[in-house]
Amino acid sequence: MGRGDPLSAAVTAQTNQASRRRCLHLLAAGSASALLPASWPASRAAAQGALDWCASDGTFTQPLYVPGTEGWLGRLDVGPAPIAIRASARDEKLAFEVAAGNRTFANPTLVAAAGASVRVGLVNALAEPTIVHWHGLTMDTRNDGNGETLIAPGERYDYAFEMRNRAGLYWYHPHPHGTTARQIYRGLFGLIEVTDDDERMVRKALDLTPGSTELTLVLQDRRVGDGDRYAPAPEDELLGWYGCQPHVNGILRPYHDVAARRYRLRVLNASNARTYRLAFRRDDATALAFILIGTDGGLLERGLRCEQVLLSPAERVDLLVDFAGMAKSDFVVLESRAFDPMHAVPATSVVRSDETATGHGHRAAGAAPASLADGSAFDVMQFRIRATQSGSSPALPERLSRMPPLVAPSGDERPLRLGFAKGQWRINDRVYDRQATPIEVARDASETWLLRNYHTSAPHAMHLHGFQFRVLERETSPDQLAPLAIDARGRLTTDLGFKDTVLVWPGESVRIAIDFRLPYAGSQIYLLHCHNLEHEDAGMMLRVKVG
Ligand code: C2O
Ligand code: CU
Ligand code: CU
Repeated sequence: MGRGDPLSAAVTAQTNQASRRRCLHLLAAGSASALLPASWPASRAAAQGALDWCASDGTFTQPLYVPGTEGWLGRLDVGPAPIAIRASARDEKLAFEVAAGNRTFANPTLVAAAGASVRVGLVNALAEPTIVHWHGLTMDTRNDGNGETLIAPGERYDYAFEMRNRAGLYWYHPHPHGTTARQIYRGLFGLIEVTDDDERMVRKALDLTPGSTELTLVLQDRRVGDGDRYAPAPEDELLGWYGCQPHVNGILRPYHDVAARRYRLRVLNASNARTYRLAFRRDDATALAFILIGTDGGLLERGLRCEQVLLSPAERVDLLVDFAGMAKSDFVVLESRAFDPMHAVPATSVVRSDETATGHGHRAAGAAPASLADGSAFDVMQFRIRATQSGSSPALPERLSRMPPLVAPSGDERPLRLGFAKGQWRINDRVYDRQATPIEVARDASETWLLRNYHTSAPHAMHLHGFQFRVLERETSPDQLAPLAIDARGRLTTDLGFKDTVLVWPGESVRIAIDFRLPYAGSQIYLLHCHNLEHEDAGMMLRVKVG
């Protein structure tokens, strides 16, 4: 791999040759080749027979893949010229390929300034319909890519929109209803980094450089082996597809060499179903506290010190971890701590009669031989302190950004019940129906929604297209959230920022405020759905008409 491939010549010298050979798998597919991490293709699996991949631990043996200015997840500045994206397949692997000048990308990280005009031409080179949705961005229906307009194989769709969001980490992924989970799992997703003055101020004050002291981490648990296939059993379709091996930027449990200073980590949970309870652990097993500086919709007003943070599918956290004062041989592990997954689906709804159907708290462990139980503890990656640095890290600016004040609700609270009935996950007892619009919001309204999850349910990562909302309150939260709550309203640190996805636990009610001011003429259709991709594909999604 790597050496002697047609694309190698085009790869500039700034990329480390050795690490590129180790980390990237080059797929020769004509001019638009895709670069994917080596651990994705089942090359090793094939060589080893690939039977017991979950037993092979592969802990901290491979370096973290850090995206550069080309290749997989490479940073691509969004300029005035349109970007041509090709959704392409190579065996089980899918990628969004882009050629820009003499650089080629797979799933580029689109870097755009707030206010920029973005033009993207998406060509579907897959053998099935697809469409791209811009997760977290303020968008009209025409550009939202909500799956109600699909592009057939060989066809093209042109997007043109203004970047209206605050600085933050957003992402893009396909949204063809019913096959969203499979397309994302097979590799179709990318990041969007929006920058603005606050962002520049924070980077300057903290001396942060993207790709070096500022790292983007994409978490995804995968079932390696069996050709890396997405083949959910009925239990997976019900509970979600849980992989057995935690990957960061496509690498199984990697390590990363760092200096004894502060780092910024911008984390996306791109997993189909898994929630992470992220924390840092030192050599002596004590926790290393960190500072949360941003959430789905960008920077918080002020940094918040925490010891752990929950990250459900599609959520993002922006955090600072400080290795200052550590010695050259110290290690810090980013871990996911144990929690009760609270899958309380009635046993009768599980088709298979094996150990998953025990009636209480289904653990996904039984769902397939190749899965790591939801809620179990595992290590995500390791930081190795390899260089010491004198002095302490620069002080955090008092104010990171300005968050507009909450707008008073213009009407009654809107209740949305999350639950399971007649074999399906539902919102207000309904499933997705293209012909129906159960939620209608008046133009420029400001609403309070009460997301109430039944006790006999599962955690649902509720996502709304097109708008960033605020979490006002959590009620009747499960006991395990108590150590994470930071105010009398039961909110967690991540609830204090702008959100587009919020995890609602069984028995819990979460009250959110949404400012529906619409910068577009005419009414628009958005979607509200669970971002557990199996729940979404099975119909846990409603249309929302605004204006
Ligand atoms: Cu990540 Cu409907 O979206
Ligand atoms: Cu979305
Ligand atoms: Cu769900």
